[in-house]
Amino acid sequence: MGFALFIVSHLPPTLLSNKKNLEKESINMRILDIIENKKNKKELSKEEIQFFIKGYTSGEITDYQAAALIMAMYLNGMSNKETADLTIAMAYSGDTLDLSSLNEIIVDKHSTGGVGDKVSLILLPIISSLGVPVAKMSGRGLGFTGGTVDKLQSIPGYNTNLTTEEFIKQVKEIGISMISQTLNLAPADKKIYALRDSIACVDSISLIASSIMSKKIASGAQKILIDVTVGSGAFMKNIKDAKKLASEIIEIGKLANRETLCVLTNMDEPLGYAVGNNLEVIEAINFLKGEVMPEDLKKVVLELGAYMIKLAGKGENLENSKQAMLESINNKKAYNKFLELVKHQGGDTSYIENVENFEKAKFMKPIYSEKSGNIAKINAEEIGKLANFLGAGREKMEDKIDDAVGIVLSTKVGRKVQKDDVIAYIYANDMNKLELASEKIKDIIKITEDPVRKNKMILDVIM
Ligand code: URA
Repeated sequence: MGFALFIVSHLPPTLLSNKKNLEKESINMRILDIIENKKNKKELSKEEIQFFIKGYTSGEITDYQAAALIMAMYLNGMSNKETADLTIAMAYSGDTLDLSSLNEIIVDKHSTGGVGDKVSLILLPIISSLGVPVAKMSGRGLGFTGGTVDKLQSIPGYNTNLTTEEFIKQVKEIGISMISQTLNLAPADKKIYALRDSIACVDSISLIASSIMSKKIASGAQKILIDVTVGSGAFMKNIKDAKKLASEIIEIGKLANRETLCVLTNMDEPLGYAVGNNLEVIEAINFLKGEVMPEDLKKVVLELGAYMIKLAGKGENLENSKQAMLESINNKKAYNKFLELVKHQGGDTSYIENVENFEKAKFMKPIYSEKSGNIAKINAEEIGKLANFLGAGREKMEDKIDDAVGIVLSTKVGRKVQKDDVIAYIYANDMNKLELASEKIKDIIKITEDPVRKNKMILDVIM
């Protein structure tokens, strides 16, 4: 049975014509029964899902009731129909953006999450400098993964909360805006996303697909590129699950009439070297300046960028687009675009011009290799959790992030190391945590005498 049959009947006009029925039915509906149904593995109806989304968005359904239902969805799984219903209910839980006044094809990009994933900070100014307009709404860190919004907010003064008018005006004026999910777009996803993060319910294919696509549908882009990350630092640990997620995302895209393309990228070790908000922003700035471009990060940025350029109708040939992207780094157009973005959104550009201005952690400790050999594994999830332990992420929805802390690796999988070489630096504001993290990281970075191949970065492209 195809996905299509379900979602087509859930597009907005039908939502409106169903409103009366829904109101009648919801008189008798109770969230307790919906939780009970899902707990007992029954497929939820469209009306039950809409009732939940409406009630949770308005605050009538409490966090603990929503947590119970989300946990039941997580444990018992969701059918394609439930996933489609959830996506559409969340997409239309608030406002939807109309980007048609931009008179250009808008291509949105989203990652399913990773560790050290600063791709958006680098890629989006590059393609904007090449004439591809960027209207990007990003998310916060989730689980052990980082979020672009948290990274942007670590630039002093940078305002991620623009109004719709300011957002569109800025894209018209300078060709790029990067904001958080602050406009009233898919507010249900915003609440559920934060809730999932605090109840260990992130890594579900249906919940991830509906979360991402509800935001993308609400934010108005005609074309969508999804970086589906795979490996220890991703929510999809293996290629089979990643392909399943990609195909669910693409189905939802088709039915919502948005051309969607998924690139499967490797997230088995952290991307680049830095993990932690200030540290990652600094790595992104150095990349845009053309100073340090870690090979793995460069491969992902160029591949995703070339596909975004193609989707925007600004260049069919992927290799030519990659060359153009490198050229925009060499001639500083990409870096200047990033400066312009930060300036327009109220950020202090002196931090971009001189990264030494970023707040530093009180303590920084180099970690030395205890033996010679080849780097066999740097488990990205473990590194992400370690960075969070130092304060770089949240455990609860309301936790505050420490922007200065984190980890900077000095090596990558497949490289040789000698005993006593520095393999990482730990940045901490708490001496106890620094000591514990220094011990732990030695277990995470695995060294072997056997030869080890570098990770392949681009694993598949699905459209
Ligand atoms: N990114 C999202 O927007 N949602 C998820 O659930 C996971 C990654």
